[in-house]
Amino acid sequence: MDIEALRQSWNQLAVAGPEAAKYFYATLFVIAPETRAMFSADMQYQEDKLLAALGHIITSVDDPDALTTFAHRLGADHRRFHGADSEGRPVQLAERHYIWVGQALLATLEHFIGPRWTPSLRAEWAGAYEAVAKLMLAGAAESEQVAPPFWQAEVINTERRRADICVFTVRPNYLCDYLPGQSLPTQVSTMRTWRYLSPANAPRPDGTLEFHVRAAGRFSTHLVRRLAVGDTLLLGHPVGTALSSYHRAPHRRLLLIAGGTGVAPLRAVAEELQQGSGRPTTLVVGGRTPDDLYDHQALLKLAATSPAAVWSASRGEQWLRYVPTVELGWGWDGHVGRAVDTALRLGSWTDADILVCGSPAMTRATVTALTASGVGPDRILTERYDHSLYPPLSAAAGRRRVTSPRQESDD
Ligand code: HEM
Repeated sequence: MDIEALRQSWNQLAVAGPEAAKYFYATLFVIAPETRAMFSADMQYQEDKLLAALGHIITSVDDPDALTTFAHRLGADHRRFHGADSEGRPVQLAERHYIWVGQALLATLEHFIGPRWTPSLRAEWAGAYEAVAKLMLAGAAESEQVAPPFWQAEVINTERRRADICVFTVRPNYLCDYLPGQSLPTQVSTMRTWRYLSPANAPRPDGTLEFHVRAAGRFSTHLVRRLAVGDTLLLGHPVGTALSSYHRAPHRRLLLIAGGTGVAPLRAVAEELQQGSGRPTTLVVGGRTPDDLYDHQALLKLAATSPAAVWSASRGEQWLRYVPTVELGWGWDGHVGRAVDTALRLGSWTDADILVCGSPAMTRATVTALTASGVGPDRILTERYDHSLYPPLSAAAGRRRVTSPRQESDD
């Protein structure tokens, strides 16, 4: 496999930016009209995910181990994308869709690369694409044995905690297995876009899931303003490996630092610890004002419960220390300052594992302050979701952007 030739030609295509994405989808929808229903009605080519991801993944085929794990998971996750036939009946993602996407990819490369598109370069791309597609199909086939392509989840409760924040609970049609800290791709039936939401609860015996959403873009604003009891959402396979890996060193103390709705996955982690080991944990939740601490009551209640196990009790420690902190607050008599500064004032964390979840700016600033205080970078866990890590095609034109599941602005 001539990886260098693949990369060079990909960079050439990436310069075309949204034009290349437009060409790719126009070709795909002509070859295979049934795929149209898989994509958002309002295609925004500058935010394209599939074509951007395709190129970056295919040009990484030189790391077979990483690629196999990743492509298996991606294939399982792709089962949630379903098209529609000419009569509007749902069509499941199958091998033929991979063939069509491959054809559209090759046609796009040929169109934009021009005379430098040679038969041998075409063979390189076709071979690399087929290798990735086969791995994805294998991952999908494996997952078919154990899980549905997606879950249908009925909204059973909604609560507007603030004008722009909604907390809602859904009941999936089958038990949906996830780890606290993971996210689930979520779709509203009236919009074809998928966005990632993290359950705020540890898995429950009745399978219900609580989500926290702040209105920041079209999808989240729709949820905050319009979601009603009885609506149905679709949920895809859980993703994310960083926040959910807090069990890797169970003897260490845990520090959880949250901002905004980043509190959701960290509350799920704390709930799981309460039901399990009762491992000593400090949860610092930061807001600009007290109004931002929209889950304060639930967290106070959680901190007041006893853990199922005796770890903390035997050492005389409180298992969960919940520390709300705000930057500005008239009449606020609690901690004042950014979450990370408050956490560092509580003591040294060099012996702890630390989970951080919030906006990209908050996460970056928190990690910088923690490492400056002497915490090893390997002790800090923040979620990075590989699927969305690929810069859009216009990256080569200098508009790099990296998103992660909970943090992307969803317009
Ligand atoms: C080697 C083959 C493929 C690779 C490497 C690939 C990769 C990806 C990746 C990484 C994403 C972004 C996921 C996310 O952020 O949620 C994505 C999205 C998507 N893919 Fe694929 N994919 C492949 C084949 C296909 C095929 C055959 C179809 C169906 C025709 C398909 C349909 C989609 C759709 C509908 C999306 C969501 C697009 C959006 O939200 O804008 N993919 N793909």
